[in-house]
Amino acid sequence: MPIIITIDGPSGAGKGTISRMLAKKLGFHYLDSGALYRLLGLAAERHRVATDNTKALITLAEHMDIRFETTSDGDFKSLLEGEDVTKAMRTETTASLASQVASHLNVRAALLKRQQHFATDPGLIADGRDMGTVVFPDAALKIYLTASIEERAQRRYKELLEKGEDVSLPALVEQVRSRDERDMSRDASPLIPAADAVELDTSELSIQEVMDTVLNLTVVKGLFASIHQ
Ligand code: C5P
Repeated sequence: MPIIITIDGPSGAGKGTISRMLAKKLGFHYLDSGALYRLLGLAAERHRVATDNTKALITLAEHMDIRFETTSDGDFKSLLEGEDVTKAMRTETTASLASQVASHLNVRAALLKRQQHFATDPGLIADGRDMGTVVFPDAALKIYLTASIEERAQRRYKELLEKGEDVSLPALVEQVRSRDERDMSRDASPLIPAADAVELDTSELSIQEVMDTVLNLTVVKGLFASIHQ
């Protein structure tokens, strides 16, 4: 049985960074479920499917040709219909499309199996919004990462600037706020911590401090006898 660790939370809380580091440290597989929704949003845009056309979105979700690859320097690459869309996927425009297609229950259901297939030995770090509540309810350890809206927008701002995107901080605060609101208030798998999740506010913590806390939790939960940090 693969060991599953879920890391959920709003955008910019540090889920991606921590999940990737943890997967590397433990030698586990990594599921970036947000990437699936982003790819679906992009696929919908490219095939001119409206974000409320659930029937067509379900067909796309079930059949879209996607691939994740790891480059020689350890970076992750995403391919949609054979095309490298790693950069296009990370824009706030694509994030908003993702959040719109993700609001439909039957579209989410169409992606459920695809996500569960990532759970193979020795284990999986699953990063998203509903990993602990819906996709892997029996996960061995569930973590819910948060941070203040200002801190999360700042992090996103830095990340996008580094990628050469032209963004304004106030506009970004607004985009992050409205995406979170949609993710938290939707009927289908809203963003909420699982009842048995450990909540961690990362506003004042460094990446290393978050990593240390999470690694300690894996030991406390009895998943590993000890982990050399
Ligand atoms: O995590 P990321 O920012 O890439 O996610 C993009 C969008 O995909 C989120 O705002 C959310 O609407 C959706 N999503 C989701 N469930 C997940 C992961 C992402 O609804 N498990």
